[in-house]
Amino acid sequence: MEFPAEPFKIKVVEPLKMSTRKERAELISSVGFNVFNLPADSILIDLLTDSGTSAMSDSQWAGLAQGDESYAGSRNYYNFEKTVREIFGYRYIIPTHQGRMAENLLFSVILKEGDLIPNNTHFDTTRANVEHKGGRAVDFVIEEGLNPSLEHPFKGNMDTQKLEAFIEEQGPERIPLAMLTITNNSAGGQPVSMENIRETRSICQRYGIPLFFDACRFAENCFFIKERESGYADKSVVEIARELFSYGDGCTMSAKKDGLVNIGGFLGFNSDEWAQKATNLLILIEGFPTYGGLAGRDLEAMSIGFREVLNEDYLRFRISQIRYLGDELDQAGIPIVKPTGGHAVYINAKEFLPHIPQHPFPGQALVVARYREAGIRAVEIGSLMFAHRDPETGEMAYPELELVRLAVPRRVYTSMHMKYVAESMAAICENRDKIKGFRIVQESPYLRHFTAQLEEIV
Ligand code: F0G
Repeated sequence: MEFPAEPFKIKVVEPLKMSTRKERAELISSVGFNVFNLPADSILIDLLTDSGTSAMSDSQWAGLAQGDESYAGSRNYYNFEKTVREIFGYRYIIPTHQGRMAENLLFSVILKEGDLIPNNTHFDTTRANVEHKGGRAVDFVIEEGLNPSLEHPFKGNMDTQKLEAFIEEQGPERIPLAMLTITNNSAGGQPVSMENIRETRSICQRYGIPLFFDACRFAENCFFIKERESGYADKSVVEIARELFSYGDGCTMSAKKDGLVNIGGFLGFNSDEWAQKATNLLILIEGFPTYGGLAGRDLEAMSIGFREVLNEDYLRFRISQIRYLGDELDQAGIPIVKPTGGHAVYINAKEFLPHIPQHPFPGQALVVARYREAGIRAVEIGSLMFAHRDPETGEMAYPELELVRLAVPRRVYTSMHMKYVAESMAAICENRDKIKGFRIVQESPYLRHFTAQLEEIV
């Protein structure tokens, strides 16, 4: 495979602080073995998330200097609106400070108590916003998407038969909209095909249900369509994006991913009926419609970021850098979710640490080992995040998968950094049977993984 060479050169550097194994072992123990509590400057390579962690370009930094901080009618808003409309095509564009605010606005406007929202797979904040407004979030990703080792070009696809059966069973009047998350983060950063989008669209249309995209990683999804779906190789990624969004009635967007910015997002849609309600609520909880929750300069950086993210040299590098990390791990015999997705490599911790059952958190055990041995921060996506007591039976319900996500920030780390990540994992591999599980000593009732305190079972 071709080595993924960076299609940019480095003009400003941020030094990384080196640390010893002893220092890291003491630190991780002092913060209750929870990597969310680590000071970021104790980390060598931070793969906690690809969200808000991008490096901006020289043009984006120049854009910041052109911020027009007028309360209303900032020129940066008009630039932003023009760019977003050109790519996404929606009539109403409401800037927000990040993705979950777009979700909050959308579901506040369209949901009634007891309504249902189908999606390929909801991201946690999307699910939480649906449920917070009294709705129920339901996932219909294809079966292949749930099998970590199975190769499939579009593992993020919606199971359209299940979707249609669900609409028939529940009645379309209880479903104010359906969603497609592109790429499907919770199922491995896997893309959705244009064919699947068209099918989902036609089912929704038949029942009069609007279709929305959770568009955080839309450019990565469009690049996969170009690479993998017949009929798209000769189309530009911009053309693919325009076609994709034309099948929807709107989208929520966290520009902290494919907007290549550190903060920002928007809600886009066509409905005149929702526009007034969403705008009124925006003014109440976020800000005036020409800035949302942002400064003018942030809108400028976002507008430039949306154009840069569709550059195909950038996208080819981005996707091949993730693939390179996945291939290196695979060759070292480390079980990963296949194929690698757009923004992260997911290690299958259940298979990697077969001596640790689910309740002592094999994923977290691997996360701690990654930090202690190599100064790398990853995130557990398994029992620490999702296991919960079933309110009806009182039994613990464990998730199907115990994964560790290595999410790669955009334009921040070089491919040599990725090689270091893979090689340091191979060293952990040799002593994997000595890795120990954990127990929780303190936890909160919601989203416990952010704050839980743990201890190692020795
Ligand atoms: N939807 C998806 C698919 C996401 O991955 C995220 C964030 C959001 C919505 C919410 O956006 O953070 O701007 O409010 N994902 C981050 C992650 C946090 O690490 O995967 P936000």
